[in-house]
Amino acid sequence: MLRTEVLSTGFYVPERVITNHDLTQWMDTSDEWIRQRSGIVERRWVEDGVGSSDLAKAATEQALEMAGLQATDLDCIILATLSPDHFFPGTGVFLQRKLGIKNIPCLDVRNQCSGFIYGLAVADAWIRIGLFKRILLVGTEVHSSGLEKTTAGRDTAVLFGDGAGAVILGPTEDAERGVLSIHIHADGRHAEKLWMDAPGSSYTPWLVPEYIASGLTRPQMEGREVFKHAVVKMPEAVREALEATGLSLDDVDVVIPHQANLRITQAVQKVLGLPDEKMVSNIDKYGNTTAASIPIALHEAVASGRIKRGSLVCLTAFGSGFTWGSALIRW
Ligand code: COA
Repeated sequence: MLRTEVLSTGFYVPERVITNHDLTQWMDTSDEWIRQRSGIVERRWVEDGVGSSDLAKAATEQALEMAGLQATDLDCIILATLSPDHFFPGTGVFLQRKLGIKNIPCLDVRNQCSGFIYGLAVADAWIRIGLFKRILLVGTEVHSSGLEKTTAGRDTAVLFGDGAGAVILGPTEDAERGVLSIHIHADGRHAEKLWMDAPGSSYTPWLVPEYIASGLTRPQMEGREVFKHAVVKMPEAVREALEATGLSLDDVDVVIPHQANLRITQAVQKVLGLPDEKMVSNIDKYGNTTAASIPIALHEAVASGRIKRGSLVCLTAFGSGFTWGSALIRW
């Protein structure tokens, strides 16, 4: 039986560091408010004109190098983002072009903070049925150019950052290793609790200046509702993964939750009763990078030696949709 293994990881964040203090020049906020509510100290923002596919390219190049592969060795691209370069076509094709390759399929995944786990579910299925042997899965976001950087948008503007994380996935016949389980869920009843209303085909026309003026084109969030659901759904998804595999929390070496907010991940940790050393957190440095947050944290945990051959890694995410899920990977 084939399983999916992670052959390599890579990440990229823009060089431009924006501290909490920097944000105070555009909006009425404070370092204390942001740290206390979210754990974020700084985040990265791109320079003007840099899109999600540019960050994805840099993360991919690192993953390719780590795997000792060329872009031409890839046979499929799955790209998760909520901040596509363009409304259409998908960002995957722009990444493909920037990597200098052609013909291989490109799939865009639009599942926000859960995008990486949804993408992993697709990649895992395609690898296990033998469709592809080298799948690039990348989560990438450029939030900064879409945020409302005024006091009106401060509830979301302080939380999100830019970045990309990538993994290269391939088949293994080693029954002990690889992706052991994936569980994904959604509940569209909560779609408007974290969303961007326009532009969109539910309007005629899709975009006019009035939508911008009335705030429809900026991210909107009911923060407390998001919080409330996240701290229930992520632990549920972790338990679901453990039940499905007959493993326990004691078996898990590293938990990588989507880096939404330190208070959310601390609550998840508490509900599950996990010790600090099992939780990965880097939100202080990057903020919430949505689809990129799990693969960035994964890369850092691998690079620092926290994840090594044989480690049992649990990923879990929750976000806009609402969508959520978990994955268990034996490294
Ligand atoms: N700086 C300073 N004050 C801010 C602010 C900011 N960036 N954003 C909001 N405020 C103000 C509000 O206007 C409000 O003021 P008021 O009491 O005078 O009306 C006050 O702070 C409290 O706002 P509230 O929204 O009730 O704060 P909160 O304690 O619920 O914290 C979040 C807000 C967003 C930090 C919190 O709800 C949260 O963490 N939610 C989850 C968000 C998340 O992680 N989303 C991504 C999921 S993928």
